[in-house]
Amino acid sequence: MYHLKDKVVIVTGAGGGLGKAFAQAFATEGAKVAIVDINEEAAQKTSDEIQGSIAVKADVTSEESLKGMTQKVIDEFGRLDVLINNAAIYAGIQRKPFFELSEKEWDLVMNVNLKGTWMASKAVFPFMKSQGGGKIINISSATVMSGSPQWSHYVASKGGVIGLTRSMAREIGDFNINVNNIAPGFTLTEASLSLMDNAKEYGVQRGAIKRGSNANDIVGTALYLASKASDFVTGQTIVVDGGKQFI
Ligand SMILES: NC(=O)c1ccc[n+]([C@@H]2O[C@H](COP(=O)([O-])OP(=O)(O)OC[C@H]3O[C@@H](n4cnc5c(N)ncnc54)[C@H](O)[C@@H]3O)[C@@H](O)[C@H]2O)c1
Repeated sequence: MYHLKDKVVIVTGAGGGLGKAFAQAFATEGAKVAIVDINEEAAQKTSDEIQGSIAVKADVTSEESLKGMTQKVIDEFGRLDVLINNAAIYAGIQRKPFFELSEKEWDLVMNVNLKGTWMASKAVFPFMKSQGGGKIINISSATVMSGSPQWSHYVASKGGVIGLTRSMAREIGDFNINVNNIAPGFTLTEASLSLMDNAKEYGVQRGAIKRGSNANDIVGTALYLASKASDFVTGQTIVVDGGKQFI
């Protein structure tokens, strides 16, 4: 349906959670998937469960590390077609008002979530350009639309991802590379479950569709944005949250 057979897909932060679900969904469609994570053990564990995938240890905040990532993918699969910028500091974020955040907390979140998205995109761009096209899919968050309190660094980093998506889309549209963004609402993953006690009920009543969301609710949008069906869609943010925010 999505014509992704043999497409080469890099998913950053795929050691678990949403990234793992993206990797599984693309592999089910016949794509060759690189499971990238700073946590080598988690990447390997995910890869062991997904036939034909490879595990790659990489830190999205390091240009050197990302160079190694792209080289490994090219050496293994010979090309790369899709990058999903999913890696982030999300699990374990301590919620506190902006005036109590330390510079260290701010910098870590901005570095991984925003700078990491820019740097990973920069690393794959020359390959996509020389191949004649590609798809970059960023993962931001619906917290940008709601302005979720108590984690301004996270919200700002994900807001930056939305702006970055638009600029990159305009800069590389001529090379047949689409850049889009998914803004998931609160989605049940190990990470989000660890953030609060009432995770399963959180926000459900605010939705047009009143039920909790899991990773399988998000993957279809990524498959669409990676497929030919979205060739004329670029620079866009699609909110996938069961109708809690409307933009
Ligand atoms: N779960 C939700 O409710 C939700 C909602 C909106 C957006 N998101 C976004 O979806 C994505 C996945 O969320 P999740 O719930 O699966 O969280 P998660 O914490 O399980 O996934 C993040 C992954 O990124 C990896 N990572 C962290 N720093 C890295 C680095 N420097 N280099 C490479 N990898 C690194 C982590 O090891 C982890 O595997 C994130 O971008 C998150 O911000 C999640």
